[in-house]
Amino acid sequence: GAVIEFNWTVNYLRWAPDCVDKLVIAINEGFPGPTINVTEGDTIKVNVLNKLPTEGIVIHWHGMHQKGTPWADGTAFVSQCPIGPGEEFLYEFVAARVGTYFYHGHHGMQRAAGFYGALNVHPRNRTVEPFKYDKEYTILLNDWWHKSVHEQEYNLLADSFKWVGEPQSLLIGGRGAYNCSKVPNFPGASSDTGDFVKCNSSSPQCVPFSITVDPGKTYRLRISSVASLAALNFILEGHVMTVVEVDGHYVKPVVVDNLDVYSGESFSVLFTADQDPSRNYWAGVNVRARLPSTPTGVAVLSYNPNDPGMLPTTPRPVSPAWNDFALSMSKAKQYVAHPDFKEPLPQKATDRHLFLLNLQNTWKNGRRWSANNISFVPTSTPILAAYKYNLMGEAPASPPDSYPTDYNISAPPPFPEANEGHAAYEFNLGDVVDVIIQNANSLTASNSEIHPWHLHGHDFWLLGYGNGKFNVSTDYATMDTSQAPRRNTVPVFPWGWTVIRFVADNPGLWPFHCHIEPHLHMGMGVIFGEGLNQLPDMPKRTLGCGLTKDNSNIGI
Ligand code: C2O
Ligand code: CU
Repeated sequence: GAVIEFNWTVNYLRWAPDCVDKLVIAINEGFPGPTINVTEGDTIKVNVLNKLPTEGIVIHWHGMHQKGTPWADGTAFVSQCPIGPGEEFLYEFVAARVGTYFYHGHHGMQRAAGFYGALNVHPRNRTVEPFKYDKEYTILLNDWWHKSVHEQEYNLLADSFKWVGEPQSLLIGGRGAYNCSKVPNFPGASSDTGDFVKCNSSSPQCVPFSITVDPGKTYRLRISSVASLAALNFILEGHVMTVVEVDGHYVKPVVVDNLDVYSGESFSVLFTADQDPSRNYWAGVNVRARLPSTPTGVAVLSYNPNDPGMLPTTPRPVSPAWNDFALSMSKAKQYVAHPDFKEPLPQKATDRHLFLLNLQNTWKNGRRWSANNISFVPTSTPILAAYKYNLMGEAPASPPDSYPTDYNISAPPPFPEANEGHAAYEFNLGDVVDVIIQNANSLTASNSEIHPWHLHGHDFWLLGYGNGKFNVSTDYATMDTSQAPRRNTVPVFPWGWTVIRFVADNPGLWPFHCHIEPHLHMGMGVIFGEGLNQLPDMPKRTLGCGLTKDNSNIGI
């Protein structure tokens, strides 16, 4: 493969994605970050210069396996020390598999500050794809807050816990529209100081994203969600979509008229521009799975030669009921492996069963999320370096492999106080691991939320979803492993379970976590350690914080 190089400067930028002026974390003075397009097998080199005056950064390449380069995974205090203000860092890794992916900040909640972009890996030979299309578009979906992520981060972990609330806007391709009449007017505010919230509904930065089409042609839309919180539902007014790819794997084609997209998931859909070409249509995105209080985000599906600025006069698209969770699960179950595009099937036997109970916890006067009552808190030494160079100190107790069998998932937790932890689950190289992610009631009676879990360093097989408490002796029998799709992100439904299987064949330390940014920030994740005695050397530039400050510790 070729070597494709990028030079990125990361800095704050005043930008108005939804017409409201705010600071975003931008790459090369643009928002969202540049879309990377490479061919499978190419080496991607990104040199990052951090110009943020006071904050460290990292960039995670969501969906890349980083085989042999676990240090390039871009997770702060897991795979590397954050890149300090004024510092440069070179990411170098192979884009091994085709598919629709993206990248984003993975330090605190920087993704929610707009620090993200798309990453498409194209096949060397397009004719091998099990579908045809004339042209493609790439769109990232996101939810958007006006409060700074620093304030959000602080509020979430403060003793007096304060939730982030619902988003102000929904963005398609980095563009949305807040209702400017809701922005308070500050008496005496001069319009050019920038000290007060400014809302300008005619700003070119919030002109709806346009998808322009020629009548009769077929298009591929690559859609990923980098949402901080919301479960999103995407609609193309008047057009059906055929889902052909999920998380970089071809699936048996499914025709849908709306698409649930959870944070961390990627899809390719095909659609044909086969409607009345004299008008334009809405592309719309709505919140599902939480009581929506955010207006529909829109883009314009514009038929050539219409002006993309010609907005449809039809109502904005409406999504299925937010709380129809049976529908959510049945939609998720539609995606199975493509029948003639045979990928490896899951192993028959499993070496290890990990039961992870999703818990919302109290924490002093605040809140946390946890798995098996352990809430993840990073240390100042990257865990990869800690394992590689034996800096773990007293061997920390491995987190528990399961939770009490009599745990009642339908009631708020009876042991609400979390424990903090940062130790990894340790697997032998080549172990076949099943993870049973078990959802439960939150601290609020009669409430359980959807959590999209994402695994770094791997694709896993999705073995199945179900309701209630997982039963090892009966629920495995309901799974059809012969068409198990491979994924990197998967939702767990309210009071339900999701089972995945993967092979621990990638020496490294890999986060497995809820992709909801506030949940991760509140500790909802674990670390999987694989091939711990075969970890590759870490380049010096990844070190320098915590116990890796002292070179004698690491023998370099
Ligand atoms: Cu896209 Cu660890 O996340
Ligand atoms: Cu979550």
